[in-house]
Amino acid sequence: MADASTLLALRAAAFAALENAYAPYSKFRVGAALLTTSGEIVGGCNVENSSYPAGSCAERVALGAAVARGLRHFTHVVVVSEAATPSPPCGMCRQALWELAPECQVISVTRGGAEAQWPLADLLPYPFTPSSLHPNE
Ligand code: THU
Repeated sequence: MADASTLLALRAAAFAALENAYAPYSKFRVGAALLTTSGEIVGGCNVENSSYPAGSCAERVALGAAVARGLRHFTHVVVVSEAATPSPPCGMCRQALWELAPECQVISVTRGGAEAQWPLADLLPYPFTPSSLHPNE
């Protein structure tokens, strides 16, 4: 279990990442920060595109940044937005998180301080897993 100061640092990293969000189309800025099992923090923000489906969510940008640094094991992800209520990760991000962090805790925080949290397993009860690829093995 992460201590309170680490979780505060994780929130701060997610809000710092949100400041870099590129969201000119939706105007919905999102920040995310992953906590690794070794205590490192990696942030990401949403990156939109004029060809809308080419955009990426903050959580998947953070995952990509972490993997590019050789980090693959995560215990927590904090997602922050400027919405009035805590925003849960979208379905694609739930699936993406499951690949590397099936047991992680998802914490969503608003600027106003509202907070919700869920185990990823509660958000994605029937994931597509590596074994789904080879059901007969
Ligand atoms: N978004 C995220 O970054 N994470 C989510 O889990 C949900 C949605 C972004 C994608 C898009 O840039 C904007 O929020 C509006 O959907």
